[in-house]
Amino acid sequence: MILELDFKGKVAVITGAGSGMGLLASQKFAESEAHVAMLDINEDAIKAEAAKLTEKGYSVLPIVCDVRKYEDIKKAVDLAKETFGRIDYTISFAGGYAGRILGDSNNIEEVRVETLDWSIDVNLRAPIYMAKAAFGYMKENGGVAVHLGSITGHEGGAPAYAPCKYGLLSFTKYLARQGAPHGIRSVCVSPGPVMTRPGMASMKTLLGYAAEPIELVEAIMYLCSGHARSITGCDYLIDGGRNVLFNK
Ligand SMILES: NC(=O)c1ccc[n+]([C@@H]2O[C@H](COP(=O)([O-])OP(=O)(O)OC[C@H]3O[C@@H](n4cnc5c(N)ncnc54)[C@H](O)[C@@H]3O)[C@@H](O)[C@H]2O)c1
Repeated sequence: MILELDFKGKVAVITGAGSGMGLLASQKFAESEAHVAMLDINEDAIKAEAAKLTEKGYSVLPIVCDVRKYEDIKKAVDLAKETFGRIDYTISFAGGYAGRILGDSNNIEEVRVETLDWSIDVNLRAPIYMAKAAFGYMKENGGVAVHLGSITGHEGGAPAYAPCKYGLLSFTKYLARQGAPHGIRSVCVSPGPVMTRPGMASMKTLLGYAAEPIELVEAIMYLCSGHARSITGCDYLIDGGRNVLFNK
């Protein structure tokens, strides 16, 4: 193997760990001998998924957390630090397109204010809260903050989702500057369609296919590793070339 990623003894705090890419990342970090704090609002999902990993002998800690609330994130990060002794990586997967999740319109005149608020709270506010809660701990050993953007952020797709995802890129740059003197890197990963649900297959890409979740998770693991020690303050588009399509 040319590229060996060593996460033994490292601690990852992962939001949205109950499903999709957040769950897969939790599994892969745990299999790589990291300790993983699995945060999600879906109590049944994270408890069940964490139990399966614990049964296999991996070190995971499920924490019920509504990332829209700073006090929930602070408590979760404090508990992860208390349990595992350090925080190396924060990876904010929790998020999503509110139009789909809450079943609302994309039309600015019609969309409910609650839908806009949900999107802003989960997609943008939460990763900023995460950085605020974890920064002091990450300063002790250095670390990496990963934010999940979206190709939609670059395109200006939906009234609240897209601006939040693009806003994360701006926050990533801010955090890179704030973190650099302390050995903390900050990166944004912006997926195009990813097959966390079958519907994503119909979203166009230049290559003609949607990415598999593992492609995103492996890229994120690389970005967290020492091999990416010179990468900070930037966006990783993993979008099958959707950004250079003329007719989306
Ligand atoms: N799947 C894609 O095609 C795609 C494309 C671009 C960007 N993204 C981004 O990648 C990230 C992960 O996507 P996915 O498809 O794997 O997600 P997913 O929908 O499978 O999982 C999201 C998880 O976040 C959790 N969550 C929702 N609200 C929460 C809250 N308030 N507090 C805590 N947890 C909460 C959910 O319970 C769920 O387990 C998201 O931020 C998404 O916007 C995904």
